[in-house]
Amino acid sequence: MRRSLVAANWKMNGSREFITELLGAMLKRLDVAATETDILVCPPAPYYDLCAGMLEGSAVKLGAQNAHEAQSGAFTGEIAANMLTDFDVSMVILGHSERRSDGETDEQVAHKCAAVLAQGMLPIVCVGETLQEREAGQAESVVKRQLGAVLDHCGIEALAEAVIAYEPVWAIGTGETATPEQAQQMHAFIRGTVAQQSGHSAAKMRILYGGSVNAGNAAALFAQEDIDGGLVGGASLKPDEFITICESVSK
Ligand code: PGA
Repeated sequence: MRRSLVAANWKMNGSREFITELLGAMLKRLDVAATETDILVCPPAPYYDLCAGMLEGSAVKLGAQNAHEAQSGAFTGEIAANMLTDFDVSMVILGHSERRSDGETDEQVAHKCAAVLAQGMLPIVCVGETLQEREAGQAESVVKRQLGAVLDHCGIEALAEAVIAYEPVWAIGTGETATPEQAQQMHAFIRGTVAQQSGHSAAKMRILYGGSVNAGNAAALFAQEDIDGGLVGGASLKPDEFITICESVSK
């Protein structure tokens, strides 16, 4: 049985005051929901310390939105995976489409994934097609290529521990969600692709859906067989909405 996971991707939003209020408003109820479901909050990097302090003694975990693959060096503005462990970061979002569209390649994502695993953290590898690619009938081949880069570099066994987030680019921040059937179809494809190499990894690997998940659509998405939770952007900045989403998983 896979344990479900809901991750809040706050992206580049918030301030010390906003995040103190947001997390403060949600924490008690999230802690209750976290007995049934893994819950992760991924703040912008300057607020790791603040959030790590607030999460002390809580079952809600701290996540990061990116990591660099090198351990140290002349990489101005970057944050190494090993630095994240100083803040008790347990999972790291990698290859988000907002980073891929800025030039992050499949190979970079694969190297970042290996660096995160080497530090004992879990990667959440984002995959997903653009609208143009979907309309051209390339959705599955794009996702397969993105997944393949990680598989080739990190190995099939590593994937058993990893989390994949299927995030169709056309559904991110647009208010347009994949239907539960569309999402399930791609999730089954992802699991099937991994199963060709390892039934064990395929059965263990958690696959999240992301793209305009909200309090109204979460339950139907999470009810699908191969959807093991969600990666939530906009709705994770609204306490009541995010709590409802987390509570929908266990229903
Ligand atoms: P959204 O973002 O929920 O605002 O669509 C999801 C994501 O980009 O991870």
